[in-house]
Amino acid sequence: MIEYDKDAIVPPYITEYLRGKTVHDDAFLHSLEKYAEENSVPIAEPETARLLSVLCRAVKPKKILEVGCAIGYSAIVMAKAVGEECEIATLECNEDMVRIARENIKTAGYAEKISVIEADAKDYLSYIDEDEVFDVIFLDGPKAHYIYMLDECVRLLKKGGIIVTDNVLYKGMTADDNHVVRRKITIVKRLRRYVDMLMEHRELETAILPLGDGVTISVKI
Ligand SMILES: C[S@@+](CC[C@H](N)C(=O)[O-])C[C@H]1O[C@@H](n2cnc3c(N)ncnc32)[C@H](O)[C@@H]1O
Repeated sequence: MIEYDKDAIVPPYITEYLRGKTVHDDAFLHSLEKYAEENSVPIAEPETARLLSVLCRAVKPKKILEVGCAIGYSAIVMAKAVGEECEIATLECNEDMVRIARENIKTAGYAEKISVIEADAKDYLSYIDEDEVFDVIFLDGPKAHYIYMLDECVRLLKKGGIIVTDNVLYKGMTADDNHVVRRKITIVKRLRRYVDMLMEHRELETAILPLGDGVTISVKI
């Protein structure tokens, strides 16, 4: 067994290069990145945030669903990249995060565009009764439960829409037993199953990217 290594996905010099290139000048987003680092709140890595922004500009979604809002960082990144008419619903089960996210979203000027819904995503997805309503679904919440959420996400996704899932390589543990730390074994097994489900799904075509902590992009065909 090797030590749990936060930079295991790609060599540190590649990460350093990507981070050096993936810069932005949004002072408010910088303040959220600093807050997240100081308070150990996991938010999308800079390369992943940029990918989300690029995908949103390309897809031009009218409706986005996010699972896992935390302090609202990735929701604000997506809000900046989409058109006036796009609505974003973001699910978060931690009430402190919900409060902070709502404040941040208001400060960023996106209170009309982004709704933070306090809910357990595992239950909430099945309560959304319309099919094919979202153009983009960003899964960045409870990794061990993605296997139970996938069918609902596919049901809720429009044809041609995308599901983006973060942390699928989980510090390299998904790809290689030698990287697995014992206390993470259940999550790793479920993430492996989740990746298999994506790759074998008849309604999805999926690419796996070794970016950030590992990202999949799945299009509904
Ligand atoms: C990685 S963070 C989200 C980061 C955010 N997407 C960003 O990049 O700014 C994951 C969040 O998912 C939330 N979460 C975990 N399980 C959840 C569940 N079952 N339903 C809703 N939210 C959940 C956690 O409380 C945490 O705030």
